[in-house]
Amino acid sequence: MKKARCSTAILISGGGTNLQAFINYVANEPGNNLELSVVLSNRSDAYGLQRAKQAGIPTVCIEHGRFPGREAFDDAVAKSLHNWQPDLLILAGFMRILSAGFVHRYAGRILNIHPSLLPAYPGLGTHQRVLDAGESWHGSTVHFVTEALDEGPGILQGRIPVHADETAAQLAARVQAVEHQIYPQAANWFATGRAALVDNATHLDNKALKAPILIDFPE
Ligand code: GRF
Repeated sequence: MKKARCSTAILISGGGTNLQAFINYVANEPGNNLELSVVLSNRSDAYGLQRAKQAGIPTVCIEHGRFPGREAFDDAVAKSLHNWQPDLLILAGFMRILSAGFVHRYAGRILNIHPSLLPAYPGLGTHQRVLDAGESWHGSTVHFVTEALDEGPGILQGRIPVHADETAAQLAARVQAVEHQIYPQAANWFATGRAALVDNATHLDNKALKAPILIDFPE
């Protein structure tokens, strides 16, 4: 049985190209079950807020600097999101570490995308680090968010070959193009009830995944 449409909140801090990929996916992908209810940013100058407005999606800006600490900011975010009763939270370039309380509140309902083939290269600056290490492969990972940063169970990975002599910026652009394909797809697996977090493991079609689903993008 198909689930009711999945009320989805997208959290951003910047340009929002992944947000744009979700907007395009929801508009163009037949039968998708995502409903983009609200876009929330912790920065008022995030260009993604303009993208949301153009798409007719409600926006909220909660600047983290106005709060005494992480928990107070997270509480304000949760209080605001409550208005939209989100089933799913999408972190799309949201440059804030979430408190344990916030993660528990939305346990199993927060997704993130990280620009590496996790568990390799958690943290920042992944593209340059991949080049410096002379890796042959790079990519991006959609994963459930748990308390451990960049360590939640993976759902879907997109992999690309690293080209000889490319710059970190060129590699980053190719990784982002992959993200725009895999992130809405993985989110829709959640929205249609195919993917879920069960006992700290990703289940897809009621089977625990030993590793994220891997899609190769040859170019
Ligand atoms: C993405 O590359 C993602 O991997 C990382 O933040 C970036 C956000 O980019 N978590 P954008 O704002 O969606 O363009």
